[in-house]
Amino acid sequence: MKKTVYITRKLPDEIINKLSSSFHVRMWEEENVPVPRDVLLKEIEDVDGLLCLLTEKIDEDVINKAKHLKVISNVAVGYDNIDIQAASRKGIIVTNTPGVLTETTADLTFTLLMATARRVVEASDYLRSGDWRTWSLMQLTGQDIYGATLGIIGLGRIGEALVKRAKGFDMTVLYYNRTRKKEKEKELGIHYRELKDLLQQSDFVCLLLPYSPEVHYLIGKEELSLMKRSAILINTARGGIVDEEALYQALASGKIWAAGLDVFEQEPVPVDHPLLSLPNVVTLPHIGSASVKTRMRMAHLASENLINVLSGREPITPVIVNK
Ligand code: DGY
Repeated sequence: MKKTVYITRKLPDEIINKLSSSFHVRMWEEENVPVPRDVLLKEIEDVDGLLCLLTEKIDEDVINKAKHLKVISNVAVGYDNIDIQAASRKGIIVTNTPGVLTETTADLTFTLLMATARRVVEASDYLRSGDWRTWSLMQLTGQDIYGATLGIIGLGRIGEALVKRAKGFDMTVLYYNRTRKKEKEKELGIHYRELKDLLQQSDFVCLLLPYSPEVHYLIGKEELSLMKRSAILINTARGGIVDEEALYQALASGKIWAAGLDVFEQEPVPVDHPLLSLPNVVTLPHIGSASVKTRMRMAHLASENLINVLSGREPITPVIVNK
C-alpha cells in the first residue's frame, strides 16, 4: 500500500509530481494562506510523511496526534518551528535544507547591509514623494561599506559566504561563534572576538546564527548599548534573537544608526509595529533565500529527504538531535 504524505502549502507541480509517483499525496491547496492549525492537527493523524514550511508550528501537540509519522521534512535550514525533542521521542526523523540556500542568503544579507548603510529605500521614497528639490552636500548621506569592520555573529555556512562578499569590499571581518574556528580564521582572514568586543568594534553587526531558546534576545538593551552610534545591525537569521523593544529604543534615540531586518519575532510583522515607523530601518518579509533557483532547490532537497526516509534510506540532510 502506498504511503501517505501531507504537504502544508501548495508547492510547484514539479515537486508534487515527484512525490505523487511514489506516495499518496494530500496538500493544503493555498499558496498564500498557511494551513489552519485545526486542519493540520487532523491531517497529521494518519500520514507517514510531512513536508512543511517554517510557518507551521510542529509542536508536541501536533506530533502527538500523528499515529504513523516517520519523517518531518522542513523546507528551510532553520528548524525552530519544530519540536525536535518531541519528534525524536517518537522516533520521527526531522530533516532540513542546509547548503542549497547558503549563497542566496549571503547575497541578501549583503544587499540588506548595503541598502541600509546607503539609505536606498529611504532615498527612493524621498524622490517619489516629491521631496527632492535640490542636491545638497549632506543630503541622505549614509555610512561607508568599503573598508568598514563587519562583525558576524554565528559563523556557519552563510557567515562564511558573507565573509567572501565582505572581502570584496576590503572589510575587516570579526566573528563571534559559540565555538571558536581557528582554521577558518587563517583560511578566510578573519578575527575572533568575544561578543562584547565584537559589538564595540564593528561598524556592521550581522546576525547569522540559528535560533534556539539559549539565544533568545541575545541582542538586547545592554548589547545594543555597546555598539557604536554609527553602527548598523542586520538580522537575516530569526527575529527572536533580537529584543525588538530594545532595538526600537536604540534606533529611535540614536544609540545605533540603523537596522536592516529580514526577520521578526512575529511574522508577518504587524504593519503598526513601532520598528516599521522608523526611517532608519530597512525591512523585508523574510526573503533571505528567495531566488527562484534556490527555493526550487530547497523544495527538491526537502522532497528527496522525505522520499529517502519513507523508502527506508538515509535522509540527505537530517537534523541531528542533541539529547
Ligand atoms: C531558512 O531556511 O531557515 C530561512 O529562514 C528561509 O529560507
